[in-house]
Amino acid sequence: MTAYNIALLAGDGTGKEVTDEAVKILKAVSEKYSFDLNFEPALIGGCAYDEYKTPLPESTLNIAKSADAVLLGAVGDWKYDTLPPDVRPEKALLGIRKALNLFANLRPATVYPELTSLSPLKENVVANTDIMIIRELTGDVYFGTPKGIETKNGERYGYNNMCYFESEIRRIAHVAFKVAMQRNKKVCSVDKANVLDVSRLWREIVTEVSKEYKEVELNYMYVDNAAMQIIRNPKQFDVILTGNIFGDILSDEASMLSGSLGLLPSASLSDTKNAMYEPIHGSAPDLKGQNVVNPIATILSAAMLLKYSFNMNEVHDDIVNSVRKALKDGYRTKDIAQDGTKTIGTSQMGDIIKQNILIK
Ligand code: IPM
Ligand code: MG
Repeated sequence: MTAYNIALLAGDGTGKEVTDEAVKILKAVSEKYSFDLNFEPALIGGCAYDEYKTPLPESTLNIAKSADAVLLGAVGDWKYDTLPPDVRPEKALLGIRKALNLFANLRPATVYPELTSLSPLKENVVANTDIMIIRELTGDVYFGTPKGIETKNGERYGYNNMCYFESEIRRIAHVAFKVAMQRNKKVCSVDKANVLDVSRLWREIVTEVSKEYKEVELNYMYVDNAAMQIIRNPKQFDVILTGNIFGDILSDEASMLSGSLGLLPSASLSDTKNAMYEPIHGSAPDLKGQNVVNPIATILSAAMLLKYSFNMNEVHDDIVNSVRKALKDGYRTKDIAQDGTKTIGTSQMGDIIKQNILIK
């Protein structure tokens, strides 16, 4: 039997509660489809700081690097808010992305028919929206140098550098066009080329790469306009290709099309086998231990893991359909509860999705 190793980085807050449910589902499908999974737990974020005085210990990084895939819960807790920037939990996230060269971040914003009414937007605007945001994840102003805070002309001055090498733009553009080929063959590249030089280069390289994908329709949008269009008419988008910071902002915005942050998964891929899968929501430390958070984003992240790391498309679809069945049957965690639905806890949601997998 094929065996895969998964590094399990639950993180802080409710991270363990959601990864527990994802592991439950992964074990269920490994039984159903006969493959072996080994889980290797490791600390990341605040809990790692408590133990090792760093949020991303070398030992965790080694486990992540040698695994076939990484499943992450979430990092961060108000307890660590006063730590120096270099050892804050978020640093671990940026550090692991960079160390594993996870330059391609896939953030689908899918509006399930079962949940259309959850969106703060009108149902006819969001119904059937299916956007894949492809966010560059290891460059841009997040990692650019020089950066810092210093004193200049007698006052403090803070600065970061928004920058991209053409090779970085090219490789993420290829990912976007390849993903579009598997979907509706449309790419919208988002930048700020009317103001920023780095965006002018971005646009030039994306145009160049597009010539290798003749079947894919390419258009461009300035980021301010894109932010507006995502709300005005989200159905116009198939794949959105963008840089690190624009993608950070637009993906949070797009998550609201579906109504809850608790529903959206993500995949961060490299050009080797290294890959990490995580919900896009945070660690919700205030809800820790209450069995109330929504495990669906993490369960769907596990489904993406099977699809993108192990090419198990059928298993991926089985998990997605089992999640949708649970929703159709009226089961809801608190964040997505509505009149006439059955509100259940984190682990019960995992159990119901697991049952749906095993009875089919
Ligand atoms: C995200 C988060 C992170 C980011 C933070 C926590 C560093 O907002 O994954 O979108 O900005 O990338
Ligand atoms: Mg973000």
